[in-house]
Amino acid sequence: NQGKNIEGNAKDHQLEPFRVENDGTKMTTNQGLRVSNDEDSLKAGVRGPTIMEDFHLREKITHFDHERIPERVVHARGFAAHGEFELYESMKEYTKAKFLQDTKKKTPVFVRFSTVVGSLGSMDTARDVRGFATKFYTDEGNYDLVGNNIPVFFIQDAMKFPDLIHAVKPEPHNEMPQAASAHDTFWDFVANNQEIAHMIMWHMSDRTIPRSFRMMEGFGVHTFRFVNDKGRSRFVKFHWKPVLGVHSLVWDEAQIIAGKDPDFQRRDLWEAIEIGDYPEFELGVQILEPEDEFKFDFDILDATKLWPEELVPVKKIGKMTLNRNVDNVFTETEQVAFHPGNVVPGIDFTNDPLLQGRLFSYLDTQLIRLGGPNFTEIPINRPICPVHNNQRNGFSRQTINLGRVSYHKNSLANNTPATSTAREGGYVHYEEKVEGRITRARSKSFDDHFSQARLFWNSMSPPEKQHIIDAFSFEVGKVKSKAVRQQVVDMFVRVDKEMATIVADNVGVNRPTGEQSKVTASSPALSQANAI
Ligand code: HEM
Repeated sequence: NQGKNIEGNAKDHQLEPFRVENDGTKMTTNQGLRVSNDEDSLKAGVRGPTIMEDFHLREKITHFDHERIPERVVHARGFAAHGEFELYESMKEYTKAKFLQDTKKKTPVFVRFSTVVGSLGSMDTARDVRGFATKFYTDEGNYDLVGNNIPVFFIQDAMKFPDLIHAVKPEPHNEMPQAASAHDTFWDFVANNQEIAHMIMWHMSDRTIPRSFRMMEGFGVHTFRFVNDKGRSRFVKFHWKPVLGVHSLVWDEAQIIAGKDPDFQRRDLWEAIEIGDYPEFELGVQILEPEDEFKFDFDILDATKLWPEELVPVKKIGKMTLNRNVDNVFTETEQVAFHPGNVVPGIDFTNDPLLQGRLFSYLDTQLIRLGGPNFTEIPINRPICPVHNNQRNGFSRQTINLGRVSYHKNSLANNTPATSTAREGGYVHYEEKVEGRITRARSKSFDDHFSQARLFWNSMSPPEKQHIIDAFSFEVGKVKSKAVRQQVVDMFVRVDKEMATIVADNVGVNRPTGEQSKVTASSPALSQANAI
């Protein structure tokens, strides 16, 4: 295994004692008892019934019976690798995050790439968004950048996430289609939740059939905050830029590969790492000063919008190299638990209502997926820095906490972090000023669903436009309900009339009568972006 025990990779050293080689000669039970025969159960006579006393058979079968855990509710199919992150220049001016200060520092990382919709055994080359989740094992705790390969998202508010996923997953009455967006509920959701327009343009583009995980961009999607050691905050969006460039399959290739090698993308990543052709991604940030929050014709808290790179350039600040395959897919890739709420001092959240909901969802789902509150003790999830708190017990607890005091504050153990020095370095949430009446109303600044969708279309070359038309025609053409097909075409006329008209002809519905939306361009900022 290439790169194993890389000098100085603290995570790799931490994992080392957990690695167990089965030499095959000295088999034992889980109690460590040497086994004399692993092939035949204990019977009354050679043809007789099996005897209850056979603890070895019982243990072996019971463990097998319990091998499966629930797959992730989304992003079930994924593949991961270990690596390291190095910084190009200190980000001290912007953030106090320790792993972004020192260019000599190498931070261990673990990255899981995934599809969103398909189940654990689905094919790699489905037309789907790809997950791009990175865990940085920093000296201040784990920082997770849980992103996708598309810079925007389907919806604006976490409240709709269960609806989105119910619509895009296979239909419940027949569990079809397995891993595709070519079905009625998907497109019915699209037509009835029009904030999705921009994301669907990316979804119908070649971005959702990447050539390789090594050739995909990654995006944190939400607007986050950087906070420096003086307490000054700036808005930030995160990007991963593949050193190999962005490349896609064409649809015919994707379909053929799905049949010939459903593991195409995991094989590609695995083999590249095995031969030492390590995938590399540069970390980029777009940074926005707080006074520029309202400078744009879109709301920076709206996850269906990107910040045009022409307006807010991406600054490349470091590089991640994936240099070691996992030893065991279940223990590492399946058991890893990413969570956008895992942050370190210097990185903070914004009020993006999609992000706020995610902050609840991941820990909640992992509690059931990984069997209770101690999943942070699973080797792949452990931080490389010490963990100290008064949390105790629960299923499968491994830490042996010493002493009798597991509460705060106390005088018996005399370990209350009362002094300011003891608290130094602790995570302090950014003290943002908040005001307003409690309401479920949506901000009007979230209402423009079509301007950036059109900008995206306008930025495509003719072959890329043709691919988008082909994708719409294929995917929407599979929808059985003519009414839904018509609604989709009537919706996307707002992005481009010619595109929607060709799709209408291809999917057998009336040509749309509506008109293209006007791109809002009242601010100099957006009219500049309009020129893309
Ligand atoms: C996985 C919820 C939006 C990226 C998951 C999981 C849940 C979830 C429950 C499974 C986690 C697990 O079992 O460990 C949500 C909710 C969202 C949302 C409620 C919106 C309200 C997003 C967005 C992105 C994203 C906007 C990208 C920026 C991912 C990725 C994974 C994931 C990459 C897979 C992580 C892995 O590889 O283990 N999400 N998600 N999600 N989500 Fe989200």
